Amino acid sequence: MSKIGRIGVYPGSFDPLTNGHLDIIKRASKLFDKLIVGVLHNGNKKSMFTMEERVALINKCIKEMPNVEVKMFNGLLVDFVKDNGAATIVKGLRAVSDYEYELQMAMLNKHIDNDIETIFLMSDIQNSFLSSSIVKDLAKHGGDITGLVPNEIVTDISTKMREIFKMREETL
Ligand code: PNS
Repeated sequence: MSKIGRIGVYPGSFDPLTNGHLDIIKRASKLFDKLIVGVLHNGNKKSMFTMEERVALINKCIKEMPNVEVKMFNGLLVDFVKDNGAATIVKGLRAVSDYEYELQMAMLNKHIDNDIETIFLMSDIQNSFLSSSIVKDLAKHGGDITGLVPNEIVTDISTKMREIFKMREETL
């Protein structure tokens, strides 16, 4: 099988990991010798899950994929990519609505470093509606998130989201 590059980086907030993310990780892991899942540390977005929790949730789901490693990163994505000896960023594209934002990020990263390429994998159709936000919304209202996130982490996510929502209601 031909390789696009030796090391690929799949970056994101993963707040939390969904079946959509895991599908991209599985598929991208077959394209590279090694795939690094880069979890953004200090994003602009406020995260529900701590860095450690997000990394632990991903690690629970990649046990069968020996060439996948999870790392935290801070600062510019291109620096993280280079520091890890990689030259390829992997992103998932769900729908046309993702395209504009992803195009902007890919162009910006190419502007910062012309040697780094971004490649896109099309999300599986059954995950095309899925996002971390809808998972959190559903879970905090006690909805069943089975089938939306990997089975290994359904309980972790449901429990945490219900706890946060309960705490907030109590302080209102
Ligand atoms: O899962 P997300 O939140 O859509 O992931 C966004 C992410 C982490 C890929 C993006 O925010 C990012 O690359 N941040 C690092 C900072 C950076 O390099 N910014 C310039 C390029 S947009």
